[in-house]
Amino acid sequence: MTTVRPDADPWAAPQRAVVPPFAVIPGAQVQRALQGREPEVVELVESAYRLHCAGDSVNPASYFLRFPDRPSSRIIALPASIGGGLRVDGLKWISSFPDNVAAGIPRASAVLILNDHDTGYPFACLESSIISAARTAAFAASAADWLTRARRRPARVGFFGAGLIARYIHTFLSRTGWSFSDIGVHDLSPRSASGFQGYLERSEPTARITVHASAEPLIRSSDMLVFATTASRPHVEDVTWFQHNPLVLHVSLRDLVPEVLLAATNFVDDVEHCLKADTSPHLVEQLTGSRRFLRGTLGDVMAGRATVPTDEPVIFSPFGLGVLDLAVGKYVYDEIAASGELQVIDSFFHELRRHG
Ligand SMILES: NC(=O)c1ccc[n+]([C@@H]2O[C@H](COP(=O)([O-])OP(=O)(O)OC[C@H]3O[C@@H](n4cnc5c(N)ncnc54)[C@H](O)[C@@H]3O)[C@@H](O)[C@H]2O)c1
Repeated sequence: MTTVRPDADPWAAPQRAVVPPFAVIPGAQVQRALQGREPEVVELVESAYRLHCAGDSVNPASYFLRFPDRPSSRIIALPASIGGGLRVDGLKWISSFPDNVAAGIPRASAVLILNDHDTGYPFACLESSIISAARTAAFAASAADWLTRARRRPARVGFFGAGLIARYIHTFLSRTGWSFSDIGVHDLSPRSASGFQGYLERSEPTARITVHASAEPLIRSSDMLVFATTASRPHVEDVTWFQHNPLVLHVSLRDLVPEVLLAATNFVDDVEHCLKADTSPHLVEQLTGSRRFLRGTLGDVMAGRATVPTDEPVIFSPFGLGVLDLAVGKYVYDEIAASGELQVIDSFFHELRRHG
């Protein structure tokens, strides 16, 4: 993005680098750039994840800002840098305020800042709740594919928690070739369950859709389970409910007691990231003092270093990596820039002469 060249003489007047224009990308543009591109987004997220697994990324631990006066809420900072053909740095800054839902607005809100690789200048601020939901759903769809290659593709899916992320995951699954004979739903909120049921009836008219009033029948009747609740501590305790060996996409990370994980084969996206912040895998590590309960990462499965059993429950707990947001955010930026519709804020960076 810059035209700066290295100077032979370090004291000579430097060549001026170009300060990139600063663009603001609203949600409507983000949605237009991503809608209908689900298979492409899954591929993109998979390649970003492979770059991360190959070490071509910097993805420090997420920083959780919590509030003593609002214990259920948080804002998380996910700084990251990715190499390969993407070569972009940035930060996702995402709020989770679960009480918003009762007040009629979404739980999560977010921005993503993209920084220029060469100058460090921020060059875009994107609405990012859609990017975050899309990368989460794309990664879940990718995991569902990789983790079921050795078994019969699940035809009965259960959604535990029926909010925005559940909807995005269903959309990404169905747009990447999945179809289901039966779809089960369970949510503590009847309103969430019936809203999601309405969405499912519109988008998958041939599936049998059942709203379950309790957890057990949902789990027992699903070959694949998607946990997307806002539970802050484990509430699913009965190991026997998983005796039929389902694949569990444990996207919300804190629903299952350690015993359920200990009776299953476990994969994560990134070990260091996932064994933090009181996730269920973190609780297992605290309980057992070991990481031996982990079979590996999804990257290990993709690279053939880990096999996925068919005769045990398989639980995938993805912490969610900032590099995936960067990859999707850069894709959105490039699409909008190519369409000529970038909304640039003139003179956003203004004080550009060092000595006036
Ligand atoms: N791992 C990742 O990469 C990643 C990325 C994005 C979101 N998430 C997580 O996904 C979860 C869902 O996000 P969302 O935007 O869909 O939230 P949302 O508020 O729209 O929906 C969550 C739903 O879960 C229900 N719920 C809460 N506790 C429950 C319980 N014990 N049993 C059944 N239902 C319960 C709520 O009633 C609500 O309808 C959040 O926990 C979020 O942090 C994870």
